[in-house]
Amino acid sequence: MSSRIFLGDFKLEKTLTNFWQEYDKPLISLAPMEEVTDTVFREIVLSQATPGNLHVVYTEFANTDGLCHPIGRDKVIHRLQCSENEQKLLKEKNVKLVAQIWGSKPEKYAETCKMISEEMPYFDGIDINMGCPVPKIVKQGSCSRLITNPSLATEIIRACQENSKVPVSVKTRIGYKEIVTKEWIGHLLDHDLPAVLIHGRIQAQMSEGLADWSEIAKGAVLRDTKGKNDTVIIGNGDIKSIAESHQKCEDYKIDGVMIGRGIFHDPWIFAPDRQEPTQEERLQLLWDHASLFQKTWADTKNFRQLRRFFKIYASNFKDAGVLRAALMESRDLDHVREIFDKWGFTPEDKY
Ligand SMILES: Cc1cc2nc3c(=O)[nH]c(=O)nc-3n(C[C@H](O)[C@H](O)[C@H](O)COP(=O)(O)O)c2cc1C
Repeated sequence: MSSRIFLGDFKLEKTLTNFWQEYDKPLISLAPMEEVTDTVFREIVLSQATPGNLHVVYTEFANTDGLCHPIGRDKVIHRLQCSENEQKLLKEKNVKLVAQIWGSKPEKYAETCKMISEEMPYFDGIDINMGCPVPKIVKQGSCSRLITNPSLATEIIRACQENSKVPVSVKTRIGYKEIVTKEWIGHLLDHDLPAVLIHGRIQAQMSEGLADWSEIAKGAVLRDTKGKNDTVIIGNGDIKSIAESHQKCEDYKIDGVMIGRGIFHDPWIFAPDRQEPTQEERLQLLWDHASLFQKTWADTKNFRQLRRFFKIYASNFKDAGVLRAALMESRDLDHVREIFDKWGFTPEDKY
């Protein structure tokens, strides 16, 4: 039996909207990615998305122990930041924002959910990470390790549900060392979750091989068998376009998908009807991203974090590789401007 964790005089408003049921299917989301889906990149992605092609975005995963620690909080809180500009775009484009959290102590989840509900009104949902496969994290009993500890997973879900004013979902995998979709997803479905997000790999695979979509489909069959009609099943793994997203939902009878690394192949992935971006448009978006990054994080984040993004913009035009190589050596925004000058491109300053 799990103990119940209510904090202070916090009152749960059961009537709050379950946004997961607000949209026509399929539901498309940008998957949570550490050091990728911060408020800056989400703003860039949102600025380019067209209506109906993106419904949910997530933060990077944020550690509940850190968030609840008086000193640790300062190191983690940036992961749950959402700028005013981003909030405006979320409204304009009718996209929901979900905070993703992780840890292994139910009481820290309870405290974190209360904090998010009371202090961060821009969040529409909270997602519990039960999928991250990284060894140093699973060693702590967290994330995908919870697949092997269903009773702790239950305690964590209950702690969140009892202390959150927004709907609580779970993102997970189809197993730890082996596939256990039926047992594990079946277990999660007994918790009245509004959404279960299934990455079709086991922990042992890390990011290797292909996601197993037939296992993801089993999640939807289980949902139907159990009559849990209020739980949407979202699939995840290897999707590279909106057309493929729709096809996967049709083929595997699921309600939606999450796109992760697909964004690295095409930053305009959520605007499938637009024309192929020109070189100028690509470089302008790179500049927007880099200058917003600099403005938002100043000296608190290393500019080098941007390097992984440069190749997504500086591609698909003549000699893109040459420009990309120069950009990979850039130290700061001024250096990027110098490189652009030499290339003969003058960006417009939006930020
Ligand atoms: C750089 C990177 C960081 C990630 N960080 C997170 C994270 O913070 N939380 C999470 O649930 N998954 C995280 N993931 C996993 C993705 O959300 C997604 O499940 C995985 O990449 C498979 O989807 P894809 O094939 O569309 O990329 C991360 C993946 C990558 C590549």
